[in-house]
Amino acid sequence: MDIESFQKDLIEWFEMEMRDLPWRKDQDPYKVWVSEIMLQQTRVDTVIPYFTRFLEKFPSIEVLANADEDQVLKAWEGLGYYSRVRNLQSAVKEVHEKYEGQVPDDPKEIATLKGVGPYTAGAILSIAYGKPEPAVDGNVMRVLSRILLIWEDIAKPSTRKTFETAVRGLISHENPSYFNQALMELGALICTPTSPSCLLCPVRDHCQAFDAGVQNELPVKTKKKKQRPVELVTAVLKDEQNRILIRKRPESGLLANMWEFPSAEVSIEYRSEKEQFKEYFKEEYQVDLSLGDMVGRIEHVFSHLIWNIHVFSGELQGDIQEGPALKLVKAEDLKEFAFPVSHQKIIKQFIDLEK
Ligand code: ADE
Repeated sequence: MDIESFQKDLIEWFEMEMRDLPWRKDQDPYKVWVSEIMLQQTRVDTVIPYFTRFLEKFPSIEVLANADEDQVLKAWEGLGYYSRVRNLQSAVKEVHEKYEGQVPDDPKEIATLKGVGPYTAGAILSIAYGKPEPAVDGNVMRVLSRILLIWEDIAKPSTRKTFETAVRGLISHENPSYFNQALMELGALICTPTSPSCLLCPVRDHCQAFDAGVQNELPVKTKKKKQRPVELVTAVLKDEQNRILIRKRPESGLLANMWEFPSAEVSIEYRSEKEQFKEYFKEEYQVDLSLGDMVGRIEHVFSHLIWNIHVFSGELQGDIQEGPALKLVKAEDLKEFAFPVSHQKIIKQFIDLEK
């Protein structure tokens, strides 16, 4: 392939067609960093309003480093994969303390920051600092598997290296930022997973898959295994003052440090789930419950499991000891806490916020 003409066709197309996105207004490494973390596992359209609000609340490294974690989680509420933002904040604290608030521009240093993997490092180095470093995510692998006719399985973690090597050989040293962003943009707008728009593609003449007519067979991607189903009972529990009981999840693991209504995993083939939940609750909090009938169900799909939540409402039959991870709050104050999407749905569907 003629690398120079490939770079030129790709970058000229990007200059004409790039979307007007809020993180493209300048090259501030902090903004590039926040946007790239949000854009992992989340679509551009979803990210835009979150990005704008996040930067209003936390406009700089210093502000985010000093922010209360609950506020940071609240700003991420609904985006999912919450460890992303917890890692972002701890890495930002490190940049604030160790690098005087300057995001490192050295590949080795930046790679040591929490949550900054090879993709994010390459994206920041190229977009914010103009360094010719690869930024290879699933979209870039899809695009390049077609252009270069690479038949390796992109679901295998070791495959990313093949593509990084390929990018090192192709990347423009005049404009690494636009080169990498153009590959991402091509993946988003033209070289899509199913039915790529080859007739509109600016680099069709360089594309080996198009030449061979196999663009629909690439990339090779083996299926991941099915999510494991988990049966849960969750209850909206009120005290005699009509306050609702919420608790904070543990500080590590799934949905770490987010708030939720008390929940317990139940087994479906055994005693009634209501009895199982009451027993769990009594053991955990030493308080009896009166529970009504099930009010509804919520399903939530994670990357590795599916929650099937059976929602109940009920009353606490005694005093409960509040603490930093257990609170009784009025319905109207629930909005101050960061809940996972499944529990936000419980609030929306089963709690009257006016009462
Ligand atoms: N996806 C990942 N990074 C992106 C970026 N900087 N612009 C658009 N889409 C992206």
